[in-house]
Amino acid sequence: MITKLEWKGMTDAAVGYKYSIFDVFTPTTPAKETFVERGNVQDLLVDAFKTPGKQIIVYGHSGSGKSTLIERKLFELYEKHITTACMRGMTFESVLLDAFDQLDLYYESLMKQSSVVSANAELRSQWATIAAAKSKAHELQNSRLLPPQLTAQSLARFLGEVKACWVLEDFHKLEEPEKIRLAQAMKMFMDMARHYPELKAVAVGAVATAREVVQYDQEMRGRVSEIEVPLMTDAELKEIIRIGASKLNIEFSKGASASIVLFSNGLASTCHQLCLNACIAHGIESERGDGDRRLSDESFKRSITMYAESASDSIRQRFEKATKVKRRSKFNTYEVVLRHLSKFGPDGTTIGELTRSISEDGDDCDINNLGRYIALLQQQERGGVLSFNADSGKYFVSDPFVMSYMQAYFESRSNRQGDLGDTFVLDNERFARFITDRVLKSILEQNDTATSMTALHL
Ligand SMILES: Nc1ncnc2c1ncn2[C@@H]1O[C@H](COP(=O)(O)OP(=O)(O)OP(=O)(O)O)[C@@H](O)[C@H]1O
Ligand SMILES: [Mg+2]
Repeated sequence: MITKLEWKGMTDAAVGYKYSIFDVFTPTTPAKETFVERGNVQDLLVDAFKTPGKQIIVYGHSGSGKSTLIERKLFELYEKHITTACMRGMTFESVLLDAFDQLDLYYESLMKQSSVVSANAELRSQWATIAAAKSKAHELQNSRLLPPQLTAQSLARFLGEVKACWVLEDFHKLEEPEKIRLAQAMKMFMDMARHYPELKAVAVGAVATAREVVQYDQEMRGRVSEIEVPLMTDAELKEIIRIGASKLNIEFSKGASASIVLFSNGLASTCHQLCLNACIAHGIESERGDGDRRLSDESFKRSITMYAESASDSIRQRFEKATKVKRRSKFNTYEVVLRHLSKFGPDGTTIGELTRSISEDGDDCDINNLGRYIALLQQQERGGVLSFNADSGKYFVSDPFVMSYMQAYFESRSNRQGDLGDTFVLDNERFARFITDRVLKSILEQNDTATSMTALHL
């Protein structure tokens, strides 16, 4: 358990301290130095935290900022909290035991304070019973069996006594029967709100899956806040870059900044990674004093290449997942759809335009059922490579790196002679080179636009 005081200590840089690039750009840990406010979703979360008895479900794409937002708001609103990371194969009992273990650390230090001991003699003796039961549970090493003292009710009571909140990360990784039991525990937390108004559990999960909690128990409707953390807007991503650059006393060109936003595609994690890579490529390790503050576009280009190289295996797997067909299939409609869509650029196109493009080229495919293939390409089983923009009515490739991969793949494939069958694979080096050229072009375009816009304003 981390207390409010420790968190403050972690975020307040001491006078004279120089930020390291790893303090500022944090692709794999919650953002502290570059935190940007999340508008409406943040207000919804704060309201839910403040409403007695309200339990919370937070869901959204991986990397959209769920953990960062929850952690930030918890430290502003709660004295303390505990976090249980759910993993595949965990039982409801092992989840409970993890929470008791974390609470133990807190109670141990609390009970050492003489003022607390005399005021809470009863609590002290009850916790001693829990601590003994906990040791027994660890000895038993049976993830299905807990001593009778270790129930969800007693956990709620001890969390309530110290006004702590319980966060369940990656709730969707649990099997269904365990989820149902956790949903029931959350309901019990609601019922105990009369005694402990601050008692709260927050279930965090992937898109759509965390909401299952409510589906398991109809009585929970209306008493649970379901909050979706959307992908970041371009303005929010730009803000991460601006804050990060100002903390490190460096400058990204307009083109580099716009390209980072473009390639991040709403994912804060990618934005942090690209900024970090650019610093590394430019030889920046920590906050700059005076002198060379501006990162060259060359460093930024290198940052994208680094990213493409390290991610190319997973990007390729996503593409292969999207286009996989049975060996005996006469044609591959998934591939035809993606090849044509990748010609339309980042905004994508409508189903009508796509059909026209495919029939003009006379490609062999299941043209009468394109809608079905497009729907499947949006699902996780096909790598979720397509998305739909309800405002424009257009389908587009959901990740710019996957888009670049497709363009490089189809271009390289059409340049090769003869029948390549299923054997064609785009090598990482070629992909990285393709991406680098594309990025350079986009930086130059953006810088040109920026220059002409500045000229106009002058
Ligand atoms: N509001 C924010 N301001 C600045 N950076 C952020 C913000 N939210 C998230 N980030 C950055 O983006 C990265 C991903 O965020 P986070 O881990 O919170 O996402 P998540 O939705 O919990 O992802 P997952 O589902 O994979 O756990 C983090 O490394 C963090 O540094
Ligand atoms: Mg998370």
